Amino acid sequence: MTELLTITYRSFSCLRKPIEGISAILSESLDRNQRLGITGLLLFDGAYFLQTIEGPSAETRSVYTKIVSDARHADVTPLRIRLIRERVFPTWRMKLIGPAATARIVPDMDGLDFAYKRLDEIHLAAKQVARPEPEQSYLLH
Ligand SMILES: Cc1cc2nc3c(=O)[nH]c(=O)nc-3n(C[C@H](O)[C@H](O)[C@H](O)COP(=O)(O)O)c2cc1C
Repeated sequence: MTELLTITYRSFSCLRKPIEGISAILSESLDRNQRLGITGLLLFDGAYFLQTIEGPSAETRSVYTKIVSDARHADVTPLRIRLIRERVFPTWRMKLIGPAATARIVPDMDGLDFAYKRLDEIHLAAKQVARPEPEQSYLLH
């Protein structure tokens, strides 16, 4: 069985035009993630990104390496990297949670103490927010 890896990081956005910038990131990511078997979640509050990517170990590491050196964000801080038995977001090639919902789910993004338990709570809350929407909806909300 393929080894599955999950990586969560927080970073600071350098996007000058956030809506256009996010759309570009997602359109690049969706196809590649599907091809590589990567799924995950991207929270964006207008200032910070909090992203989780999960998938086959080698592919997930290689996408993370690209992400870290992407000039569209800075201060990429890894928060959790670990092997998992099953995915948390099996149907999301990359689900965007926009500023309003992100501010509700992670109001303390800048000073947050990212304990592992807190990340699990954030993941759960994001899934609850996103559930009423069709899977293919990647709009800001
Ligand atoms: C916040 C953020 C999240 C990103 N998420 C992904 C992602 O999930 N999958 C992906 O392939 N690229 C993602 N990217 C884009 C990569 O950083 C990179 O631009 C892309 O993999 C293309 O790299 P290449 O041109 O070197 O092939 C993200 C970029 C940013 C700034």
